[in-house]
Amino acid sequence: MTTPTPLTQDELKTLVGQAALQYITPGDIIGVGTGSTVNKFIDALASIKDQIRAAVSSSVASTERLQAIGIPVLDANEVESLAVYVDGADEIDGHGHMIKGGGAALTREKIVASLAQRFICIADESKRVEVLGQFPLPVEVIPMAAKQIARRFAALGGQAVLRCKSGQPLVTDNGQHILDVTGLAIADPLTFESEVNQWPGVVTVGVFAHQKASVCLLGTTQGVQTLVY
Ligand code: 5RP
Repeated sequence: MTTPTPLTQDELKTLVGQAALQYITPGDIIGVGTGSTVNKFIDALASIKDQIRAAVSSSVASTERLQAIGIPVLDANEVESLAVYVDGADEIDGHGHMIKGGGAALTREKIVASLAQRFICIADESKRVEVLGQFPLPVEVIPMAAKQIARRFAALGGQAVLRCKSGQPLVTDNGQHILDVTGLAIADPLTFESEVNQWPGVVTVGVFAHQKASVCLLGTTQGVQTLVY
């Protein structure tokens, strides 16, 4: 008897992207995040696109992908609330707290998530952690505050590095910069998020504890696990 080949990370992302369709009610306006896992969700949405009234998107990249399959994209100011927001994560702990922003879209992701009644996180099992902080924490900052914010992270034991692309500081969809902070173990994500949010020049910290996941669809070798928080 041959042992089945384990699913690749890409196949796990496809599985959870498809599984997220069960959270969509026909006629909904949905919130859509950013990243390679969300791209699988958008691909899956194509099969039910006629049931989607519109989407609010967290990035230019996702907006273009949604429009390419014929789903209208609204500005966040045009909606009062969303039934669901579907997005990936860089890390997720046992309470549904996440680190996000690996794709530099954290500010818009937090804004769209805040409009939604439920956050459906789609992730492969490599993202599940006990304590947040192994993944470098993205923090969107006003450029003139970057060095002072880096010093404040150093005082907490972290090392902040300016994210670059093609040798230049990466510029977000909002015209700001990103610091990636290593060396943190974020044991109390709610308090940490509230504190860092107060620092002058921080636009958004990539800890999603106040906007945590309601449900995580976790792609594992045993199939999709549904974790409810
Ligand atoms: C983008 C994000 C993504 O959700 C996160 O980086 C996960 O991405 P991927 O699905 O490609 O692993 O926060 O800012």
